[in-house]
Amino acid sequence: MKLFTVGPVACRPEILEEMRRQMFSHRSKEYKELHMELVKRLQDFLETENQVFLFPSSGSGVMETSVRNCVKEKMLCCVNGTFGERYAQVGESNGREVVRLETKLGEPTTPELLDEKLSENPDVEAVTITHNETSVGLMNPLPELAKVVSDHEKLLFVDAVSAMGGTPIKVDEWGIDICFASSQKCFGVPPGLAVASVSEEAMSQSGKLENKGWYFDLKLYEEYEEKKSGTHMTPPIPQILALNKRLELMDEDGKENHFELYLERNQKIREGVEDLGLSLFPKEGYESPTVTCVNAPEGVSGPEVYEKMRGKGFELAKGYGEIKERTFRIGNMGHILLEDIDEMLKALGEVLK
Ligand SMILES: Cc1ncc(COP(=O)(O)O)c(C=O)c1O
Repeated sequence: MKLFTVGPVACRPEILEEMRRQMFSHRSKEYKELHMELVKRLQDFLETENQVFLFPSSGSGVMETSVRNCVKEKMLCCVNGTFGERYAQVGESNGREVVRLETKLGEPTTPELLDEKLSENPDVEAVTITHNETSVGLMNPLPELAKVVSDHEKLLFVDAVSAMGGTPIKVDEWGIDICFASSQKCFGVPPGLAVASVSEEAMSQSGKLENKGWYFDLKLYEEYEEKKSGTHMTPPIPQILALNKRLELMDEDGKENHFELYLERNQKIREGVEDLGLSLFPKEGYESPTVTCVNAPEGVSGPEVYEKMRGKGFELAKGYGEIKERTFRIGNMGHILLEDIDEMLKALGEVLK
């Protein structure tokens, strides 16, 4: 089966090979070197001097971390789909008051709307933004939104789960306090690891808050990274090896070339589906560079397209949430060859005949 999923995604053979290595202790010299090497690579990749931590969880674990460490009472969540809504639910389930800034599905959060909402709610402590809303294939204008958050002097948490590794992110230039992603999306590594950069301000807030729990306490992540070059629990060593390898390969290929390849694959898919007479779900100009959300044609449902494509050996992704029946999604994350895209589009044309 050829994968055009939205995570977990196909991994390069070198990455899978790296994960087959014999294990070693997470308190060994080998691990310490690996841990700090990966932290350094991620800092370079995200263009930040902030601390970077490795989490033995999926990306949602970092949502919980940001709320429990940095929000005492109230936060604002920008919601464009399922994952923005998940962030709001993580806030509420941890007893925080959540103000939602919701847009019509398929439309981005705009700087104007965010500015207005923050002016109406000057007491929120932090803002959450989903960089790339996987459920509807939409990318929010993060640099412009980050500027508004900074003008209002709030903490900014960015869910970059399906963006990091697939599109440039400049943590320091844009002023992101917590920016996180999971291993199983654009990095093309199996699931089980999340990574996050954390600003000094977010760390200082964590130092002041109580009842953070133990597992996701950022002060413990800091202490263990500084003193033991590791984490306060056993980390997912195979995924850490794999991500380190992935970033090493990216350094060799050149970061710019890597992003260009992502764009090329995305463009090819987008043009291909449009040539088949299909239209895209998100508002023009805000289409995601890592997942294409396509409107199913008249008379066929999204899940039907998905099933028929599986029958032809291609695993796409079903639509999500409210638009599940009327859309399907094609990911371009992970290990996908350009010729596989041609084959997939040919099969899609046959399925839709
Ligand atoms: C934008 C976004 N945020 C959060 C998540 C949840 O991440 P995880 O499954 O790694 O917890 C996903 C997963 O698909 C996602 O696409």
